[in-house]
This record gives sequence, structure tokens and C-alpha cells, in this order.
Amino acid sequence: MASLTLLGIESSCDDTAAAVVRHGDAAPEILSSVVAGQTALHAGFGGVVPEIAARAHAEKLDHCVEQALAKAGIALRDCDGVAVTAGPGLIGGVLSGVMCAKGLCAGAGLPLIGVNHLAGHALTPRLTDMVEFPYLMLLVSGGHCQFLLVQGADRFTRLGGTIDDAPGEAFDKTAKLLGLPQPGGPAVQAEAEKGDARRFAFPRPLLDRADMDMSFSGLKTALLRERDKVMENGALHAQDRADLCAGFQAAVRDVLVAKSRRAIAAYLALSPQEPVFAVAGGVAANSAIREGLLALCAESGLRFLAPPLPLCTDNAAMIAWAGIERYRLALFDDMTLAARPRWPLDRAAQPMLGSGKKGAKA
Ligand code: KG4
Ligand code: ZN
Repeated sequence: MASLTLLGIESSCDDTAAAVVRHGDAAPEILSSVVAGQTALHAGFGGVVPEIAARAHAEKLDHCVEQALAKAGIALRDCDGVAVTAGPGLIGGVLSGVMCAKGLCAGAGLPLIGVNHLAGHALTPRLTDMVEFPYLMLLVSGGHCQFLLVQGADRFTRLGGTIDDAPGEAFDKTAKLLGLPQPGGPAVQAEAEKGDARRFAFPRPLLDRADMDMSFSGLKTALLRERDKVMENGALHAQDRADLCAGFQAAVRDVLVAKSRRAIAAYLALSPQEPVFAVAGGVAANSAIREGLLALCAESGLRFLAPPLPLCTDNAAMIAWAGIERYRLALFDDMTLAARPRWPLDRAAQPMLGSGKKGAKA
């Protein structure tokens, strides 16, 4: 197979990122991966502010690209192309990235490849473990929550997903309601480890429905109600907080595990040779959720795969890799490539509604 080296660019949310990935006959190689986060810029606002994000991307992109090329020890003209996230995401940031990539391609005479951000996440198990199609993927982060059947580099079937909040968003809101720091996931997990999950009754939404859709926004209302009940009798003590976190986390885990069981059944109906269930996204870092999914995979005879955290969360190596996959299918773009705030991976699936702190969902 001809060796390909691509520069990848990502700016669809609150991370500005650039990376260089190479692939020939051997396993793919990440030559560099630079991520400049914006957490501090948005810290005072309780969420990502699109205008601030867009401006920061525009300021940092050139620098990230230069750094990625320097760390990889390669000049732009020696790359075979530039892959860029063209959506879905916050439009100002996506536009900054697309304009940057167009400029680089025009200047160096390189092919341009627009990548769907979700395809970047979904194809990561091939970058890290050279997994064969088809495999099952659960994308679970602050902005995404969906089950995907990954059948090819440009063939995705959405089996189901959240109809409202993403789980990471629910973790973040829970932390806020209990006075814990952001991002909420790690803080809630640490509290949950000290708590009793049975003390408070949390709902397991939509388990009565046979599909693979999920809902997480009701959990925070349940949490608020239980918290207020405790506070009617006085202050919220450390043990109350730990028990609330444990109950909330167990509910999220149970919903994800129950819906994963259904997604696995749908996937196994395709009779894959070596069945794989992969996760991606920040919430995949949660040890209780991971253990639940791992046990389910062991019981169902699937290999469970969770890419290392820097490749689970937003990065440009996954975009460069998705670009390599598209390059091999001759799926190129030109200067008319548009930035898209919404861009469902599965073009046949019903559009999902729902807002979210991380911007539009596909
Ligand atoms: O994938 P990510 O870095 O960014 C996007 O949302 O795109 O995911 C961040 C989300 C945050 O909502 C954060 O609270 C959550 O992942 N998270 C966790 C844990 N670590 C991060 N949620 C639960 N448990 C964790 N240990
Ligand atoms: Zn993402």
C-alpha cells in the first residue's frame, strides 16, 4: 500500500488541534498531535461561548499547525494532503479550520479532505488497533451520545442515541448542582466511590422502550429534587453528596449498559468475524461505566476496546486518520467545501434534536 502522510486540523468545539499521521504497509503512526484547549477562556461562563471559541481558534490554528509539522519533522509540501473537520460543531470554529485548511492546500498545491468530526471519533479504533469493519461504537462525551455500526470509512448506521442531554453534560450539571468543580465527570466519579448508590432512587429513563435511544436530562431533575429534600432537613453533608453522586452515576451506567446490550444484539446479527465493541469520548474514562461495559462484552463474547484518553477526547490525529481513509477511497473535496454546523453521519437516520453545551449534535 502506498504510504500516505496527512496533516489533520480540528476546531469544531473548544480544542484547537493539529496532527500529522502516516500510514503505509505497517500500523498507522501518529507523527505528532498538538491540542490547545480553551478551558480557562470559558471557565467564568459555565459553558463554551461560541464567539470566544471561534476567536481563539482563529488565533491559535497557525501556531498549532506549525508545531505539529515541526514535531513531525516534516514540511507541509511533503504531506500528501490536508484533512479538516468540516462539521458538525460550533460554526465559527469549524469555519476557522476549513479556511485555514483551504489556504494551506491552495498554497502548497495539496488535496483537501473534509472530515465529519464524528467519523473521526468513530474511526479511531482503526488508527489505534487496526480493527476490521464492521464494529460497534458507542460515542459518549460532553456533546455526543450515540451507537454507531461502523461498516466502512464512509458507511455508518446510527442505531440510537440521546434524545436530549449527552451523559457528560449530565455529569457536568450534577457537579454544578452539588458545588463540585468542572469538568464534572471526574469530580462526580470521585464522590461516587465514597457513596451508597441505593440510598436515593434515580430513574432509568427509556428502558421500557425497545429501541436504542436514551435520555439523561431527567436525571438532573431527579438529582435536584433529592438534593432539595435533603436540604429541607438541614445542610447537605459530605455523605449526602457522595450518595447522590453514586446514585446518579449508577443510573447513567445502567442505562448505557442496558442500551449497549440491545446495540450488541443488533450488531451480532451482522455475523462479524471478530466482534468488537469500541467506546470513545470523555465519559468512557469513567471507571464504573467502563467496568459495566467490559463485563457486558465479556458476557456477550465481544472484544472491548477503549482508545487511550488523548485519542478518545477531541484531537486532530483522528481527523488526519479519517482523512487517510477517505484519501484511499478517493473522496476528495475542493475549494467549495462548506463548514456545516449539523452533519449527521448516517444520512438515512432521523435527525436528533437537543441542544447541549458543546453545540449542535448530529
Ligand atoms: O470527549 P470530551 O473531552 O469532550 C467533548 O464533550 O467533546 O468529553 C468531556 C466530557 C465532560 O462532560 C466530562 O465531564 C466528561 O467527559 N468526563 C467524565 C469523566 N471524565 C470526563 N464523565 C464521567 N466520568 C469521568 N471520569
Ligand atoms: Zn468530539
